[in-house]
Amino acid sequence: MSGYEKPDYWSKKARSEGYPARSVYKLMEIDGKFRIFRPGVRVLDIGAAPGSWSLWTLRKLKGGGFLAAVDLSPLRMQPPFPNFFFVQGDLHSPDIRAALRGKGPYDIIMSDAAPATSGNRTLDTCRSEAIVEAVADYADELLSPGGAFIAKLFVGGGERELLDRLRSRFREARGFKPKTCRPESFETYLVGLGYRGA
Ligand SMILES: C[S@@+](CC[C@H](N)C(=O)[O-])C[C@H]1O[C@@H](n2cnc3c(N)ncnc32)[C@H](O)[C@@H]1O
Repeated sequence: MSGYEKPDYWSKKARSEGYPARSVYKLMEIDGKFRIFRPGVRVLDIGAAPGSWSLWTLRKLKGGGFLAAVDLSPLRMQPPFPNFFFVQGDLHSPDIRAALRGKGPYDIIMSDAAPATSGNRTLDTCRSEAIVEAVADYADELLSPGGAFIAKLFVGGGERELLDRLRSRFREARGFKPKTCRPESFETYLVGLGYRGA
């Protein structure tokens, strides 16, 4: 196991609370700051595996609202929730997009999707930026007026351009790095509130 993967306080806490990944605390921190999740919302979770963000959302929705999720990998949780749809595949694929379009529109589009890291930071940040662009395209097609956007980004120079795109479409858009991100990580989250349209 590498140093990066060594279980820390948050990993152990996640396990004890039934979540398959520590990343759930980043979403909780984002929601604590921006108050994004309300009862009855329809949510799209992009890059959902192993499933912590999805599980937290389903627990929060308490059977109301709806959650659609997509990932290249299967989820490591089997929620007995009727208001849940999961599709395995590539977020860039037209078929996957069509499947998710069929469940939309959404009040919240969130993405924790990240490319498999290569060790080449320039390459990794370019791939991460391409994912955020694709998630922003999903928002332009499937986000309801007033909706919210959350997307993980590997910081590498492209964040200004992406934020400009979000600011042209949302009442407010900004970067936010949760305290629960590992200190050595170069990820941040772009948050858009109050979608106004493309
Ligand atoms: C950090 S993990 C997400 C963790 C998740 N939020 C959770 O709480 O369990 C990033 C995920 O992005 C997914 N991913 C990366 N590129 C993708 C793509 N092109 N299409 C779909 N999923 C992708 C990976 O398979 C991986 O499961």
